[in-house]
Amino acid sequence: MMDGGSGASPDSFALAPWSAAHLASVEAALSRWVTTDAPAGQLHGAPADLVQAMRYAVLDGGKRLRPLLVLAACEAVRGHAGAALRAACAVELIHAYSLVHDDMPCMDNDVLRRGKPTVHVQFGEASALLAGDALQALAFELLTPEDEGIAPDIQARLCRLLARAAGSAGMAGGQAIDLASVGQPLSEHQLRDMHQRKTGALLQGSVLMGAACGPTDAQQWEALSDFGAAIGLAFQVVDDILDVTADSATLGKTAGKDALADKPTYVSVLGLDRSRRYADDLLQAARAALLRARLADPSALRALAHMVVDRSH
Ligand code: IPE
Ligand code: IPE
Ligand code: MG
Ligand code: MG
Ligand code: MG
Repeated sequence: MMDGGSGASPDSFALAPWSAAHLASVEAALSRWVTTDAPAGQLHGAPADLVQAMRYAVLDGGKRLRPLLVLAACEAVRGHAGAALRAACAVELIHAYSLVHDDMPCMDNDVLRRGKPTVHVQFGEASALLAGDALQALAFELLTPEDEGIAPDIQARLCRLLARAAGSAGMAGGQAIDLASVGQPLSEHQLRDMHQRKTGALLQGSVLMGAACGPTDAQQWEALSDFGAAIGLAFQVVDDILDVTADSATLGKTAGKDALADKPTYVSVLGLDRSRRYADDLLQAARAALLRARLADPSALRALAHMVVDRSH
């Protein structure tokens, strides 16, 4: 897998230039929206210290996989680019908030994230808590602009998808299961359920939010949902693997934490080899789902699926 054993290559699509162009627009939009500089901006009048912690959490770091998935899915259905850029940033804000809270002493108690001290180390626990809260609220504000020609039904659909992915049935619920599972011998079924919620839901939500920016039929929606579920779960399987196989400098976060904290992971339940094979199986399931979606141009989505499994950090 990570050593290139995943079989089929991501075809001839040039992911690097595609990503570079899209990452640049995501970075610019995030910086523009998470600021007090713009007099009419979302954060106008917000306390400077809080905004500083929010910017620290969001900017200058992260692979931005979720925004890329939103943009790729939108392009695949020839959707509304402006809506997709907002959706891409909204998902990243939710993700960044989840990381800030995940790192806090009451959760994983981590001091390093994206190669920097974690938000609570840098700004204190109360500021980290509030920065997370404010990022979550900002995400939904971004999805509901008044004057950009994004149809109200698309705005509502994007909000619903993101709320479901982030909430008690998705990420927050998965995080609750994660904390309750420390030291527990989970079955494979329980582990999959936890991972699907805490991580899979937001990646699947990213794909579906991109698709919601354009037209899809029921079969395409179903297939994209399956694609998102497969790469979402694969992403956390690989995260569990990298916690064991990679070093902290490469990851930008402390390696080896899962075993130290006695967390059930794919590596602890299946072992390294079976975990790698499982990630490869999920990649093949994702590719099959993408074929079923019959998209005009699925190349970027397919390349991103490979990136999920073949990444080094
Ligand atoms: C880390 O996510 C947390 C998980 C859900 C496993 P990423 O690996 O996408 O973190 P960044 O955004 O690149 O820092
Ligand atoms: C985090 O899972 C999932 C989130 C919802 C943030 P982990 O706790 O494994 O993520 P890392 O390894 O700290 O990035
Ligand atoms: Mg965690
Ligand atoms: Mg963690
Ligand atoms: Mg992890």
